[in-house]
Amino acid sequence: MVDVSSCRCHESSMPILIANWKMHGSRSSVAEYAFAVNTALEMAPVEVEVVFCPSFPYLAAAKASLPQNARLKLGAQNCHAEKEGAFTGEVAASMVRDWGCEYVILGHSERRAMGETDADVLAKAKATIAAGLTPVLCVGEGEKDYEKSHTIKVLDGQVSGFKKLPEGSYCVAYEPIWAIGSGKTPKTSEIAAAHQHIKSALGSGTPVLYGGSVKLANLKEILKTEGVDGALIGGASLKSEDMKAMIAMAGGTH
Ligand code: PGA
Repeated sequence: MVDVSSCRCHESSMPILIANWKMHGSRSSVAEYAFAVNTALEMAPVEVEVVFCPSFPYLAAAKASLPQNARLKLGAQNCHAEKEGAFTGEVAASMVRDWGCEYVILGHSERRAMGETDADVLAKAKATIAAGLTPVLCVGEGEKDYEKSHTIKVLDGQVSGFKKLPEGSYCVAYEPIWAIGSGKTPKTSEIAAAHQHIKSALGSGTPVLYGGSVKLANLKEILKTEGVDGALIGGASLKSEDMKAMIAMAGGTH
């Protein structure tokens, strides 16, 4: 049985904003961003949880720039399923925890495109929860499946393994692949239907975040959509000024 006592997803209903920096940034830009976003969070007591996910090499710099009781949480963009071993170039969940992270994004479509399977994502999720971290498990349909109205069928296949994980120990991010980095988003009715379906499959206590071309102009509408507990933000999260504006906006939505 995995220990979920240190997992955070089930603790609150405040919206979660995750800044996924992908393979962007530098040591100094990451440290400056973490400090600036944390300062904004401390000064504006808005009810929002923010998770910053820079590349592995910059997690320590991000952590070092934050005070002891920082409101900004850190997350990694991946980890390995095994505890340790001969896996050159890989990073274990316990190492991610050592860096001071509380979250790990797993199964992002950009990683699935490199060969990561549903079984890999489930194995990594188990390792992550066992290490005391909260996985953010990414799912979403491609453009062809969206056009054929196969979204729910695709989601059912991707989330079925998550039923083996304790409810409240993880978050799901619904990210239609065609919406990522494209400037396109589904209709809010489609986002609501996907989120409600995921919650009905996994339990209503499962936080479900939306990701894919989230920006300041559409964040409020998305966060107010039924079943949306937060947002996974890529490109629009890269500038601290934009992120600060999105944090201020998210504070009033739930
Ligand atoms: P985007 O990326 O906001 O740039 O579309 C989101 C993601 O891939 O997590």
